[in-house]
Amino acid sequence: MAFFHSEYFIMSNLLITGSTGFLGGAVLARAISDSSIRSILLLVRADSPAEGVTRVRNNLAKFGCHEHLLNKINENNILLGDLAYSDDFLDDARLSTITHVINSAAVASFGDNALIWKVNVEGTLKFVKRMAEVSGLVRFVHVGTAMSCVPEAGTLVTESMERKPEEEHLVQYTWSKSTIEQLMIEHCPQLPLVIARPSIVVGHSEEGCRPSSSIFWVFRMALMLGKFMCSMEDKIDVIPVDYCAEALLLLTKSTELSEKVYHISAGDAGSTPFIEIDAAMAAALNQKPIRSTYQQVDYSELVKNRKDFKTIYGPCNERLMLRAMRLYGEFSMLNVRFSNKKLLDLGMLPPPRFVDYISRCVETTRDFTIPELMKVDFK
Ligand SMILES: NC(=O)c1ccc[n+]([C@@H]2O[C@H](COP(=O)([O-])OP(=O)(O)OC[C@H]3O[C@@H](n4cnc5c(N)ncnc54)[C@H](OP(=O)(O)O)[C@@H]3O)[C@@H](O)[C@H]2O)c1
Repeated sequence: MAFFHSEYFIMSNLLITGSTGFLGGAVLARAISDSSIRSILLLVRADSPAEGVTRVRNNLAKFGCHEHLLNKINENNILLGDLAYSDDFLDDARLSTITHVINSAAVASFGDNALIWKVNVEGTLKFVKRMAEVSGLVRFVHVGTAMSCVPEAGTLVTESMERKPEEEHLVQYTWSKSTIEQLMIEHCPQLPLVIARPSIVVGHSEEGCRPSSSIFWVFRMALMLGKFMCSMEDKIDVIPVDYCAEALLLLTKSTELSEKVYHISAGDAGSTPFIEIDAAMAAALNQKPIRSTYQQVDYSELVKNRKDFKTIYGPCNERLMLRAMRLYGEFSMLNVRFSNKKLLDLGMLPPPRFVDYISRCVETTRDFTIPELMKVDFK
């Protein structure tokens, strides 16, 4: 599916980080068939270039890439490296030839992962400083997250560099993402930086949740329980990963960008109320919507249902389920939309609505339990 009107400019040597993940994988899946890109280098964690190739190809296959495209990735495309130990790969000479970067690698976890700060802030800053020294660098697109601004509930948020203090962040992940944006600007004023802030990325418009079940399970979990912390009228700003990838490539290719920060989001018009998600999910599952019996409740009420979790969800860690409900419940109540006007002004088409591809997500997760699907977000 093409999400923007026209082709833009030649990208010579593109470096992608995070290509074994959800967003970076989607970017690579598009980039490998893009004739305007001369060469692609991928920062990958692996013990050998051959293992790196295997990891990247296995991930690309989840995005529906055909064999001939997978075979385009070989050991020359691999830069072995770990952002927790950035010094080990920063003297690779190939980095000095890079013209464009899409920096998608991060510990993207709502869990208490000890590496969040080391990777998302310290290691990323070292990497960014190295890339800021590359004389031929034309564009460095850093993938942030729209949630890092700690939005006010019920608002339409526009892009800004205003920061909230650590104690207002619901999770350390968003605090780390907010901090690195600030540090990049402070330490590397010469970097041709563009910050892309995706909203909530769920599934793929064609492949459903095959590339990743990230966040999709939250909707299923809440609807299976029949109660959650948001109201049925609250809206949520969701985009599919292939749309996000295309927007990232657009931001990387466009020669003249007037802004430093862009949301990649559904915006006011494309955000979806939970009542519509309930209807679309029910239709895909061949069940009745639960809207007439649904209860909006406090977290304390969810805790009372703890003993029913195993019956509803199958074998599970009840404490982890409750932690997930508290965290994602708080995000779900925000009813926040992220303005996508700046992105649309660049010629990007609006994203498909979540309810328009939800059936693909249902289909591709049918054989998995909620505890299995949620693992990806608690690494
Ligand atoms: N998913 C969303 O809804 C969403 C929304 C807004 C913004 N974002 C942002 O999008 C970016 C990608 O997120 P995602 O959802 O694609 O996450 P993901 O699926 O977990 O992928 C993370 C990627 O980062 C790599 N990575 C992690 N630690 C690394 C390290 N120490 N050194 C080198 N690479 C490392 C991973 O490599 P391995 O395979 O080796 O672990 C993987 O390729 C993140 O910056 C995130 O903040 C995501």
